[in-house]
Amino acid sequence: MNDDELVRLDHRHVWHPFTQMREWVEDAPVMIAEGSGVYLTDTRGRRHIDGISSMWCNIHGHRKRELDEAAKAQLDKICHSTLLGFASPPSIELAARLSAALPDGLTRVFYSDNGSTAVEVALKMAFQYWRHKGENSRTRFVSLNNAYHGDTLGAVAVGGIELFHEAFGPLLMKGFKAPSHYCYRCELGKDIRSCDLACAKRLETILARHEDEVAGVILEPLIQGAGGMITAPPGYLKRVADACRKYDTLLILDEVATGFGRTGRMFACEHESVTPDIICLSKGITGGYLPLAATVATDRIYNEFLGAFGELKTFFHGHTYTGNPLACAVALASLDLFESERIIERLAEKIEYFRMRLDAISAHRHVGEARSVGLMAGVELVAEKATRIPFPYEAKMGWAVCRKALELGLILRPLGNTIVLMPPLSITMEELAAMMDMFEASMAGTF
Ligand SMILES: Cc1ncc(COP(=O)(O)O)c(C=O)c1O
Repeated sequence: MNDDELVRLDHRHVWHPFTQMREWVEDAPVMIAEGSGVYLTDTRGRRHIDGISSMWCNIHGHRKRELDEAAKAQLDKICHSTLLGFASPPSIELAARLSAALPDGLTRVFYSDNGSTAVEVALKMAFQYWRHKGENSRTRFVSLNNAYHGDTLGAVAVGGIELFHEAFGPLLMKGFKAPSHYCYRCELGKDIRSCDLACAKRLETILARHEDEVAGVILEPLIQGAGGMITAPPGYLKRVADACRKYDTLLILDEVATGFGRTGRMFACEHESVTPDIICLSKGITGGYLPLAATVATDRIYNEFLGAFGELKTFFHGHTYTGNPLACAVALASLDLFESERIIERLAEKIEYFRMRLDAISAHRHVGEARSVGLMAGVELVAEKATRIPFPYEAKMGWAVCRKALELGLILRPLGNTIVLMPPLSITMEELAAMMDMFEASMAGTF
């Protein structure tokens, strides 16, 4: 099919996510036809650096030989079989490998297909856990302002981005909201140098006041992604984890975006030696190849679901493609690559260079803050640096910079005024330098 025909059909039939479709149909989209390493090639033959890892999930680059081969080998066996009533070798092996890679104690792997369902599973699991323990009043979750945990209704209920979540307000379960750790625009009007983590203190206060109502605390460790790449001050995660222990509630960490090396460690919680009760994984789990998610719990949680058939302690949840063998086979090959290519060890140099280039960008008169953890960054644009006044939403300044970047061969996508930079972990130093050069040029070309 030629490009014109594809564009016509896209405009006629495809409803794109998070997209104002009236604007979308005014332009012909860039249609990605192929990928190789960190590059994406569109149907016109133009090559672009994948600066957002194809929505934050690509790890080893596109068309990675080992992952391609794992998928092909599994295709020759079977693409899909169910875990409802049956088991499959790839899902078993992967569960054991994930458990070994995760902090000690996270042993029970429940599969689903995307980040939102990984979170949905975690919430239902936590809720039901307390019911089995006879603590029926524990029906609420504590989550953070600016949090993003996905788009299914449970995940939206624990989200905290007004722009995305407000419209669905009447449908959502009630919970408690704690302040975001957004130091650049502190909700509590504090200064990081003297605040003593006042935002964590607020969360502790919620737990103290509502000890019997809280089923769990859910958060994105170290960095709130879709909320604007908002990094947490050192010690924040540990402090919240300690509070969860003190008030005997469950800690659910959403590592959908941060998991699998993105922050410089295999999992973000390792940076502060925190082990949650439940962890949510997706995106990078298959190296960014196929949809798969895992919600991994401790034995303490799992054991509460054990009982006689008639006791109805079963976890009544599951999806058609739960534990899909093709996705699991690729996930296993991705874990192999973490070992054989020493992905984590080799990240340090890239992360340091990335940080250095972001520091340089911070000086730009329209950059309020350039935040990062590992190879995950957000550059927040401001209309006025001294006063931190943001650009109005309708000005679409983030989009303007991304459009410039696209002209230069770099694919980016903003979160409002914040530009996300998140290349595949496999990016080479030379490619990273080229990407940052292009980003600087797109800033210069916009302002
Ligand atoms: C932290 C976090 N949780 C959950 C999700 C939802 O994942 P999915 O889009 O696969 O449903 C995302 C997606 O960006 C995320 O960043």
